[in-house]
This record gives sequence, structure tokens and C-alpha cells, in this order.
Amino acid sequence: MTDKVAKLVIGDQTHEFPVMSGSVGPDVIDIRTLYAKTGMFTYDPGFTSTAACDSAITYIDGDKGELLYRGYPIDQLSEKSSYVEVCYLLLYGELPNKTQLAEFDKVVSRHTMVHEQMHYFYRGFRRDAHPMAIMTGVVGAMAAFYHDSTDISDSRQREIASIRMIAKMPTIAAMAYKYSVGQPFVYPRNDLDYASNFLHMCFSVPAEEYKVNPTIAKAMDLIFTLHADHEQNASTSTVRLAGSSDANPFACIAAGVACLWGPAHGGANEAALNMLKEIGTVDRIPEFIARAKDKSDPFKLMGFGHRVYKNFDPRATVMQKTAKEVLDLLGVHDNPTLQVAQALEKIALEDPYFIERKLYPNVDFYSGIILEAIGFPTSMFTVLFSVARTVGWISQWKEMIGDPQKKIGRPRQLYNGAPARDYIPVDKR
Ligand code: CMC
Repeated sequence: MTDKVAKLVIGDQTHEFPVMSGSVGPDVIDIRTLYAKTGMFTYDPGFTSTAACDSAITYIDGDKGELLYRGYPIDQLSEKSSYVEVCYLLLYGELPNKTQLAEFDKVVSRHTMVHEQMHYFYRGFRRDAHPMAIMTGVVGAMAAFYHDSTDISDSRQREIASIRMIAKMPTIAAMAYKYSVGQPFVYPRNDLDYASNFLHMCFSVPAEEYKVNPTIAKAMDLIFTLHADHEQNASTSTVRLAGSSDANPFACIAAGVACLWGPAHGGANEAALNMLKEIGTVDRIPEFIARAKDKSDPFKLMGFGHRVYKNFDPRATVMQKTAKEVLDLLGVHDNPTLQVAQALEKIALEDPYFIERKLYPNVDFYSGIILEAIGFPTSMFTVLFSVARTVGWISQWKEMIGDPQKKIGRPRQLYNGAPARDYIPVDKR
């Protein structure tokens, strides 16, 4: 709390509200007593000006293009850390020492297998089901398999559920992929690191040996790190809202997966690559730029724009560099999709429409190019995002459950429907 107060004048009445300060970032006006004092609510669709919680996990300064996990800048973490270390950091608040990291790595590895009965669950889906549909169903179904970690009032159970989610998401995701291509499920290998194990479960087959390329594994690990958390985005807020009713953690994460699927959120990486392919060649870019600017056309440049970043998305900078590295490593030169992406970025960034609206490439603009080069079909892109974001969701969920201020999430509304009226029997209508 600060000494500052915010004054709200309604007619001849002045109401005062305390102003709260965080450790960094804008102050917030504490309006919890607004309704009691004024009989009014605030109106903020899309929560553009509303802080819905108090959090110490991730900080974004959209104007500076800054993203911090527990205070550490994303560019430092992506260069020097690993995804598993970032998971520890997000979950527990501090970087682990060597022993803590080794222990955490071991615990996560020990939970990578899924209940054998879950294999049958997959068979209920059509082979051509979108893997995100499978993910939503299977993650929700975890609550039916792991009863001993659904009591949210028990901190030990919350801890086990968190580790289970982080450890099993790659297995569940790889199984969704294997099911879609008609290949046998591959069991996890605990001698491999997190990203290598995931690639192994996706791309190895019983008929021949599969060696994970360390540079590809590093790129995969980096993609996971860049997507690990992003404060109160739509899917994280969904997880928090679901969790606010004391729903079990698996149900909450399934809600997050469902929200992430949308093309305005995690589905944008799939949509961005599809768009780059549809554009196809550099000479067709002006046509698509014109469509993006035309308000009568619903088309948007996918992978462009962000609710919070209004300067640049620091994740996109790392992603662009990695895209080039991965393509070079794989010997893919003159990749037409990368050429279109680079030219599109340049043209859009010089166009007044995009400059005025502060629209920049976001994390999803280049990630699809890397994932396609690694060998993933576009339908798997959002699935990979959900694997990476699981630690963010679960960390935010744990923080909320432990917060003494926790309340069931219950927004209000501006009602615009019919006022009270009497029922008319059907023969009189
Ligand atoms: N192409 C063309 N115009 C755009 C775009 C775009 N990609 N994004 C925003 N605009 C325009 C929008 O039409 C509006 O114009 P005007 O002021 O003339 O009405 C203005 O820019 C402000 O946009 P907004 O829709 O009010 O911004 P928002 O904060 O509500 O939406 C967004 C943010 C990310 C949903 C939006 O930029 C978008 O749909 N981008 C494409 C989808 C995408 O790449 N999403 C991934 C986001 S990053 C990863 C993640 O969060 O999952």
C-alpha cells in the first residue's frame, strides 16, 4: 500500500481508494470497496486495465520489451539456463543450486510415464483428431488416474500434482502425435534430458535407432524456455479462474489447454506458419498487407501484435536467431517460408499502419519455421506450446492456492437484456 489515494467523483460525491504499488511496474487502484461505496461496478472487457491478482512469478514491461521470470531476463535465461532449471525457478522462486537441480531433474524424470490404462483412452479418438482436442481430453482425464494428488488443501499433493504435470505433459503430447501418425507409442527414457526425451518419444520408431541431434534438442529446450510463462495471459487466467473454485489441478490445466488452442493465443503459431505458406512468395506480400489493413476483411497478420508488448517481443528476437541456426544446421538454405517471413516483417515494420498501432512480430512468428524444420506438423505446434506453458500454469495455480487473498473468480456484468417481465403462456404468444 502507498500513501497515494485515487479520488473518484460521481455527481457531488467523492470516493477515495487506496493505491497499491508492486515491486516494479504500474501502481494499481484498489477498488475492492467500489460497489459497497458507490453501488457501481467497473467495465473492462478483456481486462485491459484490470489486475486480477497479486503475483511474484513473471513480469512484463510491454513498452521496454522486457520479460522477467522471477526477476531474471528472458534473454539471459534462454542463453544460459535450461528448461528444467527454469521450471524450478518458476515453481520455487529461486534458481536451484547444483544439488537441488539434480534432485529436481531426477524427480521429474521419475514421473514421466503415464498410467498404462491411459493408452486405451487415446484409442477412443479418431486418428484425424486435432492433437489439441486429444490434449484437452487426456489432460482432463488425468484427474481420473491420479486420485492421490487431487486434494488441493494438502500441500504435498499439490506438489506431486505439479511434478506430475511437468513430467507427463511431454509424454501425453508425444502420444497424441504418435496416435495421429499411426505409429506405436514410445515410452519415455529417463537417461535423456527433458527436450531430448520429448524428441525421442515423438520421432523414434521400434524398427530403427533414433539419435537425438543435440542442436535440435537445444532449440527445442529453448522453445520450451521462451514459452514457459507469460504472467496473466488468457490461458493462465483461465487456469486461475478454474482453480479459484477449488477444482483439482488436472481439471484446471485442461481448462488452460483448451483456452490456449485459440488462434488469438497459442494457436497463432500454427496460424502464422499456415499464413506464411499461403503467401508463398515475397511478391504476394503487399496483397496480404493490404488485407491485414482492410477493416472489412477479418484477415490479420498472424504472429503479429500483442496485448502487452508495444515495442518488441523479446522472445521473437531469440526465436528469429534460432530459426536461422536450426535451418543452417539442417542444411536448409533458401527456405522460402523464412524468406517470406523476413520480407513480411521488414515491409510491415516500415508501414505506418503497423507503426502507429505498435504491431511487431511476436513469439509465434518464427517458432513455426523452427518446428516445421524439426519435423513437426503444424497441428502439433500449439501442443508444444502447451507442454512448455504447463510449468507457468501450475506455478500460477500453486501461487493462487497459497494466497490468503484467494477468492472465487466472479466478474460482474453490464446487463443489457430484457428487464423483469411476466411469463406468457404458449397459446397467448
Ligand atoms: N494484423 C493486423 N492488424 C492488427 C493485428 C494484426 N495481427 N493485431 C492488431 N491489429 C490492429 C487491430 O485491428 C486494431 O486496429 P484498430 O485500432 O484500427 O481497430 C489495433 O491493431 C489494436 O489491436 P487490438 O485487437 O485492440 O489488440 P489486442 O491487444 O486486443 O490483441 C492480439 C492482441 C495478439 C490478439 C492481436 O494482435 C492479434 O490477433 N494478433 C494475431 C494473432 C497472434 O499472433 N496471436 C499471438 C499472440 S503472442 C502469443 C500468445 O499470447 O499466445
